[in-house]
Amino acid sequence: MQIFLQTERLILRRFTGADVDNLFDLDSDPEVMRFINGGIPTSRDEIEHDSLPAFLHYYERGDRYGFWAAIEKSSGEFLGWFHFRPGEGSGPNEPELGYRLRKSAWGKGYATEGSKALVHKGFTELGAERIVASAYEANTASRRVMEKVGMTLVRTYPVGQSDPLLVGPERFNSNGVDYALEKDDWERQG
Ligand SMILES: CC(C)(COP(=O)(O)OP(=O)(O)OC[C@H]1O[C@@H](n2cnc3c(N)ncnc32)[C@H](O)[C@@H]1OP(=O)(O)O)[C@@H](O)C(=O)NCCC(=O)NCCS
Repeated sequence: MQIFLQTERLILRRFTGADVDNLFDLDSDPEVMRFINGGIPTSRDEIEHDSLPAFLHYYERGDRYGFWAAIEKSSGEFLGWFHFRPGEGSGPNEPELGYRLRKSAWGKGYATEGSKALVHKGFTELGAERIVASAYEANTASRRVMEKVGMTLVRTYPVGQSDPLLVGPERFNSNGVDYALEKDDWERQG
């Protein structure tokens, strides 16, 4: 197991080709997918031939950033994942933080614990200067994690007509929100 980092209760390890079922189970819960694409499960084919190879590609090319599987230390169970990598159009020192956990793991502070550790590693070891994150405005849990990590709201913007939430099973409208944390501010927060 190639461990990227550990916290008190979590191990963040590299994904392997054997994680197809873990990812498939995670994305099969419409509640997990609610604020991703309106609640639509990801197909096994897409995971096997698209998402997982994309995750593995980060390690293959030796990138310092990427996607990591979150494992609960006490049970050894796969809880979900964190990503920490520059988003499209962002500079190399501006990673985007994200997370997706199984419903059974929600409300235990795991997303905050993993995110705080990634933010610390990003600013102290990986050369990050600014960390960003995005969510739908209605995704209170995700926004709360961003706030607990020390991020602040940068902008709120309307989503486009073809946004997944508008065409997904629930069909509800929600603005997008962007958060950010500058290295200087993080250092000041102590
Ligand atoms: C977002 C997610 C990763 C949060 O994981 P988590 O481990 O439950 O997060 P934490 O326990 O660290 O913190 C969640 C916070 O949100 C709060 N919260 C959760 N649901 C809430 C709600 N409906 N209304 C208000 N607050 C809520 C919790 O009380 C907690 O805040 P607190 O510590 O101040 O009480 C998890 O909900 C998830 O995987 N959701 C599905 C995927 C997803 O939406 N990912 C983010 C895409 S932007």
